[in-house]
Amino acid sequence: MPDQTKPSEGAVSAAQIEHAAALLDAGELVAFPTETVYGLGGDAESPDAVARIYAAKGRPANHPVIVHLAPQGDPHYWVEHLPAEAQRLIDAFWPGPLTLILKRAARIPAAVSGGQDSVGLRCPSHPVAQALLEAFSALRGGHGGVAAPSANRFGHVSPTTAQHVRDEFGDAIHVLDGGASDVGIESTILDLSRGFPALLRPGHVTPQDIADVLGEVPRFADGSDATAPRASGTLKAHYAPRTPLALLPFDVLEPLLAARQSGERVALVARVSRAGRWMAADGVHFIAAPEDPHVYARELYGLLRALDRANVSRILIEKLPDTIEWIAVNDRLGRAAAAFEAQS
Ligand code: TXA
Ligand code: MG
Repeated sequence: MPDQTKPSEGAVSAAQIEHAAALLDAGELVAFPTETVYGLGGDAESPDAVARIYAAKGRPANHPVIVHLAPQGDPHYWVEHLPAEAQRLIDAFWPGPLTLILKRAARIPAAVSGGQDSVGLRCPSHPVAQALLEAFSALRGGHGGVAAPSANRFGHVSPTTAQHVRDEFGDAIHVLDGGASDVGIESTILDLSRGFPALLRPGHVTPQDIADVLGEVPRFADGSDATAPRASGTLKAHYAPRTPLALLPFDVLEPLLAARQSGERVALVARVSRAGRWMAADGVHFIAAPEDPHVYARELYGLLRALDRANVSRILIEKLPDTIEWIAVNDRLGRAAAAFEAQS
C-alpha cells in the first residue's frame, strides 16, 4: 500500500506558517494539509483569490467552495443565521470532517458560493491547517476564512499527501507538507439551508452519527433516507483515476478476470477473503483491499494514484457491502467508476 507516512508533528515551522498566511493575505494560493485531503486555499472574502482557485483547478466558476475556519473562528460572521441544529453539530463534530451548508451572510462575496445564497463552513482538525487558519485569521482581525476545494485538477483524484499536490500542479502552487491525511476522503457535507438536513456528500461522519445528534435522520438531496443503503448508478462521475476502472460485486468480476486477453495486465482490488486464486493469477496485479472502512478510506486515493502508475489496462475493484459503514467508500469508488461508464 502507498503512503504509509503519518502526519509528523512540527514538520511545518512557525516561520513557514507565517509565510503561507502572508501569501494568503496577498491574494495568493497555498495548498495545505487537512485530516481529510489537502486543500487549495485562498482568501474566502477575495473574489480574485477565489477566481485563482477555479483557474488553477480548471473548475467551472459556478461550483461553490468550502470556507475553512480556525477553531476560534466565529461561524456567525459567515452566515445570515446559525440554526440551533448547526450549533449542536458544531459542538459534536468540530474540529473535524463535517461541512455545514448554511445561508450566507450578505457581507460575504457570492464568488465563494458559486453565486448561490449559501456558504459551506468547516473547521479542520489537522494541526497544520489550524495553525495556518489562525495565522491568517489574525491578519484579518480574527475573522479570516480560507476557501479551499481539494487540491487536485477538476474531476481528478483528491490529494492525501503533499507529493500528490506536487504531482497535480508541479511547482506552480506553494505547498505546506503536513504528512499523509488521516481520514483520506473529503468531509461529510450536510445542507441545513433547505428546511430539512440533507446529506450532499457522505464521509467519515456518517448519517447515523448525525441522526444521533439531531434526533432526526438526514435525507439525501432527493428526500430519500440517508441512513438506508444507497443504490449505485445515480452517482455523478468524479474522483477518477486515468486508467479505466470498474466497480462490481466479486461474482461479477470473476468472469471478467477469466475472460481477460492473454498478455493483458489488469489490477484487482478485492478483500483477501473473497479473492481466492485470483490473488496469484498471471497478469493480475492483486491489491488486498483493507477490510476496515476507515483504513480503506485512508488508503483509497493513494491507491488509485499508484494504480495509475502500475502499467495495467484496467482496474477492477470489488464493490463493498451496501451497509452504512461503507457508504463513503462506495460513494467515491462509484463516482470513479461512473467516469468510465459515462464514456462507454
Ligand atoms: O474535506 C473536504 O471537504 C476538503 C478539504 C480540503 O476541506 N474540501 C473539499 O472541497 O472536498 P471540494 O471543493 O473538492 O468539494 C466541496 C464540495 C463541492 O462538491 C461543492 O459543491 C460543495 O462542497 N459545496 C461547497 N459549498 C457549497 C454550498 N454553498 N452549497 C452546496 N454545496 C457546496
Ligand atoms: Mg474535490
